Amino acid sequence: MAVISDHCPQIEVTLVDIDESKIAAWNDSDLMNLPIYEPGLKEVVKRNRNRNLFFSTNIAKAISEAEMIFISVNTPTKLSGLGAGYASDLKWVESSARQVAKYSKGHTIIVEKSTVPVKTAELIKEILMNSENDSDFNKKSFSVLSSPEFLAEGTAIKDLENPDRVLIGGEDYRAIDTLKEIYLKWIPEEKILLTNIWSSELSKLIANAFLAQRLSSINSITALCESTGAEIDEVVKAIGNDTRIGKKFLSPSPGFGGSCFKKDILNLVYLCRYYGFYSIANYWEQVLVINQWQKKRISNLVVEKLFGTVTGKKILLLGFAFKANTNDTRESPAIEISKNLIENGAQLNINDPKVNNKQIEKELSIKEFEENPLSHGSWNFERDIYKSAKNADAIIIITEWEEYRELNWQKLSSLMRKPAWIFDTRKIFPKEKWVDLGINFWQVGSPNIK
Ligand code: UGA
Repeated sequence: MAVISDHCPQIEVTLVDIDESKIAAWNDSDLMNLPIYEPGLKEVVKRNRNRNLFFSTNIAKAISEAEMIFISVNTPTKLSGLGAGYASDLKWVESSARQVAKYSKGHTIIVEKSTVPVKTAELIKEILMNSENDSDFNKKSFSVLSSPEFLAEGTAIKDLENPDRVLIGGEDYRAIDTLKEIYLKWIPEEKILLTNIWSSELSKLIANAFLAQRLSSINSITALCESTGAEIDEVVKAIGNDTRIGKKFLSPSPGFGGSCFKKDILNLVYLCRYYGFYSIANYWEQVLVINQWQKKRISNLVVEKLFGTVTGKKILLLGFAFKANTNDTRESPAIEISKNLIENGAQLNINDPKVNNKQIEKELSIKEFEENPLSHGSWNFERDIYKSAKNADAIIIITEWEEYRELNWQKLSSLMRKPAWIFDTRKIFPKEKWVDLGINFWQVGSPNIK
């Protein structure tokens, strides 16, 4: 929405949320306090805020004045009830649609921006068309479009400025044209793809499923490389040079994280089972099984290398965000790996340049640990990396933050308790550099170095 306001000064964009603290943070005069860290975002907000970009909790007023409404609420995986563990919880989409039905005036275009299961537009339409209690209802009309978002966190502004494609799914050509006119202000026409509404909804799930499948494929090969003497970088280069495979999105990792891939695949699996395609559901579910396996493999490997026990050992974990350049920790591989190590008795020092203590506490709040504090290790948030490296038995690099590449690794290694280990789960360094450090080094997808 900030990028739309930037390119379309004639359009007034208002963001509404029921969470007052979030809206207050978006309106904070100190741009460092915006609720989301995203490179380039604060500059766009600064340019447009209170010009044609507004943040408000007055939902009724904003809806009644809007000609077009983007529903961009979260759609987490259901935790209980029908479809628990797989289907998306659409309660926020539903309540947003109800609010629109209640407060809108005249003709309103509703754009489904949240990632939703196929046929959600139907649910929205049904709510909009059946708001009988409203006396003004005869004066209202609606068009529903689907326009899923393909930006990735950490590169959101770049992706929005120069998307590979924009999708608009729908049936009402006037509504489609109105939305297309907005995108055309900065996106070339050939990149704007028009589809039917279900293709648009399904394409979003399939794009994420294909991307995640690629990551599980490459991560599944890392173990094989480590055991056979092959080097994952060389394999990636060899296969990526085949233009049919392509070079992008093949970096090995401790497992993919983020709020989307797991949720969307679970959704796809649910959809396949719903339509009776059990083999297809099992096929896609394996992408998640491999992702889980990689996280477990790495934490087990740390324990094994440290003589089969980490009880009481000091371990420094570098990075808690699910990828660099974001403060988002949802589904971060750091969560699973930290929990496994704490369960094994480790004393973890966790560092991240953008994630704060409170956020980590939320992710690591483990009920069994609280009930039985003596049977496990512990964790601390640590800003000073050199201080936490003192007498550490291991350092594990989880997130590929640029600043970690620039640390004085010679100094860090000299501070550690020997025999010490460094585990590089992101391949952030050329391995030749490590030989001089005089400590044990493990890197994902590389044959054992020491
Ligand atoms: C993903 C998609 O890339 C976006 O296109 C999509 O719009 C978004 O989900 C969404 O549905 O909202 P995002 O989760 O923000 O974006 O970030 P990605 O760059 O896809 O990274 C996801 C995870 O994969 C991260 O943990 C990252 O470290 C990992 N990854 C990525 C790798 O392990 N290797 C790679 O080569 C690339």
